Amino acid sequence: MSAAAVVAFLAAAVVLSAPRGAEAAVGVNWGTVSAHRMPAPVVVDLLRANRIGRVKLFDADPATLSALAGSGVQVMVGITNEMLAAIAASPPAADAWVAHNVSRYVVGRGGGADIRYIAVGNEPFLTSYQGQFQSYVLPATTNIQQSLLILQGIKLVVPCNADAYQSASVPSQGMFRPDLIQIVTQLTAFLSSTGAPFMVNIYPFLSLYQSSDFPQDYAFFDGSSHPVVDGLNVYYNAFDGNFDTLVSALSKIGYGQLPIAIGEVGWPTEGAPSANLTAARAFTQGLISHVSSNKGTPLRPGVPPIDVYLFSLLDEGQKSILPGNFERHWGLFSFDGQAKYPLNLGLGNPILKNAKDVPYLPPRWCVANPGQNLENVENHLKLACTMADCTTLYYGGSCNAIGEKGNISYAFNSYYQLQKQDAKSCDFDGLGMITYLDPSIGDCRFLVGIDDSRTSAIYSSSDCSGMRFRLWILAFLVIGCIHIGVYL
Ligand SMILES: *[C@@H]1O[C@H](CO)[C@@H](O)[C@H](O)[C@H]1NC(C)=O
Ligand SMILES: *[C@@H]1O[C@H](CO)[C@@H](O)[C@H](O)[C@H]1NC(C)=O
Ligand SMILES: *[C@@H]1O[C@H](CO)[C@@H](O)[C@H](O)[C@H]1NC(C)=O
Repeated sequence: MSAAAVVAFLAAAVVLSAPRGAEAAVGVNWGTVSAHRMPAPVVVDLLRANRIGRVKLFDADPATLSALAGSGVQVMVGITNEMLAAIAASPPAADAWVAHNVSRYVVGRGGGADIRYIAVGNEPFLTSYQGQFQSYVLPATTNIQQSLLILQGIKLVVPCNADAYQSASVPSQGMFRPDLIQIVTQLTAFLSSTGAPFMVNIYPFLSLYQSSDFPQDYAFFDGSSHPVVDGLNVYYNAFDGNFDTLVSALSKIGYGQLPIAIGEVGWPTEGAPSANLTAARAFTQGLISHVSSNKGTPLRPGVPPIDVYLFSLLDEGQKSILPGNFERHWGLFSFDGQAKYPLNLGLGNPILKNAKDVPYLPPRWCVANPGQNLENVENHLKLACTMADCTTLYYGGSCNAIGEKGNISYAFNSYYQLQKQDAKSCDFDGLGMITYLDPSIGDCRFLVGIDDSRTSAIYSSSDCSGMRFRLWILAFLVIGCIHIGVYL
């Protein structure tokens, strides 16, 4: 065999012997706070086309779990914070949750869903929740663990925001918040006994966004002119600094060796000055190279996090913008599965592949009628943009420079698409007009919604997502469906 043939043979052997869909340390968060949801099977195909082998969900949506069955994708399902009290209070409630949201998918036909983890709450210790979920976490975890006994191998984790421990000036000073020490110590003992990792969400973007003296290059992975010197250890990026702050905090409660998984990490593409495509690409690609180099951190040399779930797979246009307009723009892909920037996930494809067979509504848009005087448009705009997503119109957004009339058209169209192109929703007292010519300008895309009429029927009434379809007017107020972060 020639050298080239040997290389080709070895490459083929590696591909053949790699277990399908397994051992990919990089996964994604799949959130669904969107008015334009692609059908779950289309999203699962998108995951598979990109060889993404792990997905983290925020709930246990039936359509999502059914679509994941037999896909080979490893799944983390989530218990929402709002359910913790009931599950903490009652072993039968925990049994019901597991039976309804885990067991029936695991043993489904065609292989079932490969559920590996259950997230008990989502950032339940967040300071801004003022302790309202704190006391439920351990009892809920214990009850769910009891309910799971027959389902060996499914592990429980509690995704934490870094505000559970942050505020240290250098990583070695890391310690958990005093009000959490006792709970986290018990939780960590539990995680350790079950072989589960400590799961933390890390957001250098938010550090940069929230603090004007945060050195920009420290948020990325290309070295920093402002490294953090901590005794003999030097930190060149915020990710490692944050990670080792957690390692220090864990050491102080006696669990310095506990594996760590990253529940969320990412960079938004618009909605703030440092949220843009270039920065998102640099951060995400840098992160992937960094964790796949297996370098680890000064306190854990050679030991990278066991899993890293990127935040996020898709843009979610109905997320609360309380933290900032960027909240709706965390996706690697737009809401309809179109890659926003070239990215090598390290999973086999050199760049991202777009979603296929997306069931769009017909190609038509609602715009401002050029023949009308638009003086009295203010209230219409307010209504449209309260309901629909207009965040791209603002500073740092892709549609910020389309002019006043463009703004009005954009808002009208967002509302019209939200209303699934109901002709009445483009009226605006005669100021709106339906067009068949795509009004998109440059980078500013006027969206066409997704036809989800075939999938929305199967959501159950008790389910957060189903509720969102009916009560979409209130969607941004339904805390249970919203991932609000006050990140430190
Ligand atoms: C299953 O999870 C959903 C949310 O994902 C929740 O609304 C529902 O109540 C859960 N079922 C049970 C029986 O707890
Ligand atoms: C994108 O964000 C980065 C990081 O904050 C910033 O340095 C850069 O100037 C931004 N680029 C544009 C075009 O705004
Ligand atoms: C369009 O709307 C955005 C957001 O309100 C605003 O920043 C921008 O100045 C508007 N453009 C014009 C020309 O009015």
